Amino acid sequence: MIPLSLAQIARITGGQLSGDPAAVVTGEVVIDSRRAGPGGLFAALEGERSDGHEFASAAVAAGAVAVLASRPVPVPSVQVADVQAALGTLARFVIDSLPAVRIAGITGSSGKTSTKDLAAQLVQRLGPTIAPAGSYNNELGHPLTVLRADPATRYMVLELSARGIGHIAHLCGIAPPRYGVVLNVGRAHAGEFGGLDQVARAKGELAEALPADGVAILNADDPRVLAMTTRTAARVVTFGVAQAQAGVRAADIRLDDLGRAGFTLLTPEGSAPVTLRLHGAHNVPNALAAAALARELGLDLAGIADALSAAVARSRWRMEVHQRADGVTVINDAYNANPESVRAALEALVHLARGGRGFAVLGHMAELGDISRASHEDIGEFAARAELAGLIAVGPEAEPILSGARRVRSWPGEALAVPDGAAALDALANQLKPGDVVLVKASRAAHLEGVAADLLEEADR
Ligand SMILES: Nc1ncnc2c1ncn2[C@@H]1O[C@H](COP(=O)(O)OP(=O)(O)OP(=O)(O)O)[C@@H](O)[C@H]1O
Ligand SMILES: [Mg+2]
Repeated sequence: MIPLSLAQIARITGGQLSGDPAAVVTGEVVIDSRRAGPGGLFAALEGERSDGHEFASAAVAAGAVAVLASRPVPVPSVQVADVQAALGTLARFVIDSLPAVRIAGITGSSGKTSTKDLAAQLVQRLGPTIAPAGSYNNELGHPLTVLRADPATRYMVLELSARGIGHIAHLCGIAPPRYGVVLNVGRAHAGEFGGLDQVARAKGELAEALPADGVAILNADDPRVLAMTTRTAARVVTFGVAQAQAGVRAADIRLDDLGRAGFTLLTPEGSAPVTLRLHGAHNVPNALAAAALARELGLDLAGIADALSAAVARSRWRMEVHQRADGVTVINDAYNANPESVRAALEALVHLARGGRGFAVLGHMAELGDISRASHEDIGEFAARAELAGLIAVGPEAEPILSGARRVRSWPGEALAVPDGAAALDALANQLKPGDVVLVKASRAAHLEGVAADLLEEADR
């Protein structure tokens, strides 16, 4: 963070200071007291299970200069009405103090983190870049990420998430982006939004937030995204796999045995070969979006192609492909699940399983509202049509996947409902043989990443 005195922090946040006004925060702003360190600021949040205020003294003992709190604490503090809101206000102050920082926001229903991680690995070639770890993309993670900026920072590549109208506009108010990438409009959280048009409305707030000298980077393959052209004052550039008129696109896409895409990157400046290290064809549009952003920021074609080919997965449990010693391949995509991302993962599974058998261990897709049952059934039907050898639905909410699969009468595969991850492991234990591929995927709440980990360990037993 940029150095700020407690007096400044109190003034910026409208908070009440208790302690030395001249004491200066020079270190990180943290919300976990165990991560508090010398010179830092500890933000005490009241959660459902624990209350940060109880750890105020521990944070200061660990070196934190003060605590941002919403009630009195026995250590130096700035007391505000709402700690989360105060973090946003502080973050905005930091951004306004650093006019040289160019801010890019990335949103969409699927692929934000993957694209953000790719884009950050491209943009950092241009100068010091801040990007959140994992999915630090909401009203709390976003300001905490922004607060990491300091005078050396030149770029910010931020992930913006929404579960409702107004969320992205709010995040854009904390760190106003000049560059905005919209990946896709899908059914993730559709239940909370109330339908796809509402999802589009919410994601398009990023396009609306861009200034006239900004750039909206839109997916030409997604009509709901392309339609955001009319909602922005910014210049529009497009990327796309299927649209010949897209500004940045891919030709000659092929997948290797592990589902990693190679393609020719086409830009207005010419073309260059790219081979991704990430798994799954869905990473091609993600890579094109990252390329289009880096191009706007000034990275040349050779740099873009080289950085895309060198980029690695930075965030866990997204299409991690592991090969067991016994020849079984496990795809751990257990980070999250929505209809589009499950389809993308199933397509990758089918590709990897060519010549062998594909099994999918699927938990339920959360927050789909009215379309939940139909969406689960459709996924099952898709899996059956893709001729998977086995489909294991974990938990009662995932069972409609199996009814969907049974709609495909000619499907010879096996459908099984199990209560939990342990039962899924049991079911697979004496079935798997060399050449088989197992995909593990579910919404975050299902915590199926443990199933993938256990499957990998099993081979060593
Ligand atoms: N462009 C894409 N289209 C469809 N599915 C995708 C795409 N990119 C990634 N996915 C799928 O979505 C999963 C999650 O990807 P990622 O974490 O990048 O998305 P996210 O938008 O950040 O999700 P969240 O909303 O949970 O933060 C991937 O593992 C993959 O299965
Ligand atoms: Mg994410």
